[in-house]
Amino acid sequence: MKKLIAFAALCSCIAVAAWFTSCNNNSTEKTSPETAKADSLAKAVERGDYLANHVAACIHCHSMRDFSKFSGPVVPGTEGGGGGVFDHNILDAIPGTIFSRNITPDRETGIGAWTDEEVLRAITQGINKKGDTLFPIMPYAQYNRMAKEDLLNIIAYLRTLKPINNKVPPRQLMIPISMAYPAQALQPSVDSNVRPPESDPVKYGEYLTGMADCVNCHTPIVKGQPDFPRMFAGGNTFNVPNFKVNSANITPDSATGLGTWTEERFLNKFTLYREEKNYAINPGKKNTIMPLSDYAGMEDKDLKAIYAYLKSLKPVSNKVEKYPR
Ligand code: HEC
Ligand code: HEC
Repeated sequence: MKKLIAFAALCSCIAVAAWFTSCNNNSTEKTSPETAKADSLAKAVERGDYLANHVAACIHCHSMRDFSKFSGPVVPGTEGGGGGVFDHNILDAIPGTIFSRNITPDRETGIGAWTDEEVLRAITQGINKKGDTLFPIMPYAQYNRMAKEDLLNIIAYLRTLKPINNKVPPRQLMIPISMAYPAQALQPSVDSNVRPPESDPVKYGEYLTGMADCVNCHTPIVKGQPDFPRMFAGGNTFNVPNFKVNSANITPDSATGLGTWTEERFLNKFTLYREEKNYAINPGKKNTIMPLSDYAGMEDKDLKAIYAYLKSLKPVSNKVEKYPR
């Protein structure tokens, strides 16, 4: 999982925050600038909550997950507190032991003392407050293509998390971080990134698929490198302590991928887990590492856009056995 694949966000969509002034004949009732500011902050936090929990799924990586339940839902009370382990036991290609960090507003052990600019730099450039380069399992190469407004909304949401005092141990890498640096050039600034219009589902779906980092788990890793020509063809083995699972081929190949999947079937794969009773079961060895209970909260229109994008890709034949023996 050394190198990540960038995605392109091409079209433009700029949201304009407006505030209203209402008047009548006798009195002038203005919405104060403070009220307007609080309203737009509430909107930003709501959007950030949606993205951080259900699309970019920051929270599932930055929390503890309970794999005694289907798809490892986040352990309540650990949201954003970090400590999730990524090592070569889970995925061969990971050269060491890396922990997700505490991104709650705790000033001592989280990001409470970081400025928005510092958080933005970590998310989009992979450089933290101390100046260390982050291991790219943190998908900053993907987030480098996100619209700045979406990124700022996520940061606004992170500020509302309950502070958790949890000092996460330092990572142990067996290679220099420079060897793990993402292949593609990162843009030095995200200022010109734009969110494609929803009226273009393929482009908008590409934007969401990038943000959701589907590519990282679903692109075959060969000798430590993603096999770009076989993007999304699946087959990576994840060894979670109590089960083993291969990522699926999600290219539109009819025999081995999603070629025969209707939009409805695709949506069902995710929406089934909007109901807790459907994931709050112990599936034993037939479990998955894909954060389905989080992605389940994605709006139908967003899931449809992802489907449209995946359907537009080149089919790649690659037969994957989901549960290897
Ligand atoms: C696939 C798992 C994964 C996802 C998804 C993910 N992160 Fe991370 N993140 C990590 C890991 C692992 C690290 C630590 C990397 C290292 O130590 O080199 C990290 C580091 C960070 C840091 C730096 C913290 C520090 O103390 O250095 C911030 C900030 C951060 N992530 C925020 C986010 C946000 C915001 C999102 C969603 C937009 C997100 N992450 C999504 C795994 C993830
Ligand atoms: C953390 C790794 C991971 C991430 C991230 C991930 N997946 Fe998966 N995905 C898997 C694994 C493992 C499987 C096989 C087990 C299962 O069906 O859940 C899978 C299965 C699937 C399947 C079922 C295919 C089949 O043949 O049954 C679809 C569809 C899918 N993923 C789409 C996506 C999309 C779309 C995204 C991004 C929004 C995504 N995945 C992100 C790991 C991941």
